[in-house]
Amino acid sequence: MKVLVVGGGGREHAVIKSLKKNKKVEKIYALPGNGGIAKDAECFPVKATDVEGIVDFVKTHSVDFAVVTPDDPLVLGCVDALEELGIACFGPRKNAAIIEGSKVFSKDLMQKYGIPTAHSKTFTNAEDAIEYLKAGDFPAVIKADGLALGKGVIIAQNFEEAKSAVCEIMCDKIFGASGNSILVEEFLTGPEVSVLSFTDGNTVVPMVSSMDHKRARDNDEGLNTGGMGTVAPNPYFTEEIARECMEKIFLPTVRAMKSEGRTFKGCLYFGLMLTPKGPKVIEYNCRFGDPETQVVLPLLESDLLEIMTAVSEERLSPDMVKFKKGAACCVVLASDGYPKKYESGFEITLPETNGDEEIYVAGARTEDEKLLTSGGRVLGAVGVADDLKSAIAKAYALSDKIHFKNAYKRSDIGQRALKAKGE
Ligand code: AMP
Ligand code: GLY
Repeated sequence: MKVLVVGGGGREHAVIKSLKKNKKVEKIYALPGNGGIAKDAECFPVKATDVEGIVDFVKTHSVDFAVVTPDDPLVLGCVDALEELGIACFGPRKNAAIIEGSKVFSKDLMQKYGIPTAHSKTFTNAEDAIEYLKAGDFPAVIKADGLALGKGVIIAQNFEEAKSAVCEIMCDKIFGASGNSILVEEFLTGPEVSVLSFTDGNTVVPMVSSMDHKRARDNDEGLNTGGMGTVAPNPYFTEEIARECMEKIFLPTVRAMKSEGRTFKGCLYFGLMLTPKGPKVIEYNCRFGDPETQVVLPLLESDLLEIMTAVSEERLSPDMVKFKKGAACCVVLASDGYPKKYESGFEITLPETNGDEEIYVAGARTEDEKLLTSGGRVLGAVGVADDLKSAIAKAYALSDKIHFKNAYKRSDIGQRALKAKGE
């Protein structure tokens, strides 16, 4: 079987390594992949956002199954285009990917179907939003409607900050058309949990929960990043909360999408906040999270390709998805300076890994057989163990054996999770 994976980050590397465990997989193509992925898949320089290029590739290469992982191609309709060519896909169609592509859409959906989320008001012009904020409570959360490279959420501490955020998004259009509409949202508090799930549009099966570390510096200080590390499972996501989320959030969302004629098939990511008033949805993503996938898939005991095929054929059942009992930790090694300016082009030396360690490469290219840094987040070092403490120790020990000039990592990935467990 020949499988195509669209994307080229650490998450895609984790998906590819997991797919490779299936004996039926004879070849994996990655578009565009990266220098690290090239060890596990054949990479071609077609951008993930170039849907036409992806279609052309598929016309000239035999592909039996396609996995579309990043948000942009999904929102642009990559799955629709591939299905038109008769290719079976894992990933939502354009009309379902809108659950991430438009925050106004997802907020309306939650309000219509009574799915718990922050109170919010939508604005299509800056004056009205500013007028509303004058009388508002702070902090207030301001969100651009569309995709904004993970930067479209601003937490304003006071009116002045809120006003400049509204102006930047709606007048200066720092996120382009994504800022044509904005949400002004109530500020919620509580631990955050990421829950990725498999769904075929009818059945939804949550994967093991995880915890992201979005800020650049220790103690959750510094700028927001794409994610500096993750642990799974998330200790705040108890069995009782999982049951509540299934009943009030996961199933209602999947049913709501179906009722709207937007059946969601693929990985639906629930970004949750466990507030004093119960779990609420902070955001939906129409795809695997990054770097959540890097801790979730190493714990997956079942076969990923079998699950993805079942999702695509709408015959998913909960018994197809089994996770190991243990824990996993991913420590991201970034180029110092990320998420702002950083230098790249430095050689990376990687150690051998054993069965409960993984290195997933995100921002690297190959030149003269050398692996060189080429992005902000360079790679993730993952440790898997019976318990969280050992998984963290393993991930850090592995990360210490990886070298490149200007490498930067947080030193406290998983510490908050350990504290929550009383360890
Ligand atoms: P996002 O870019 O959508 O992943 O959001 C970034 C972060 O903003 C989330 O992980 C939360 O920490 C925070 N956030 C988003 N919405 C809210 C809210 N209503 N209340 C408090 N924090 C929020
Ligand atoms: N780690 C958060 C995301 O993938 O959006």
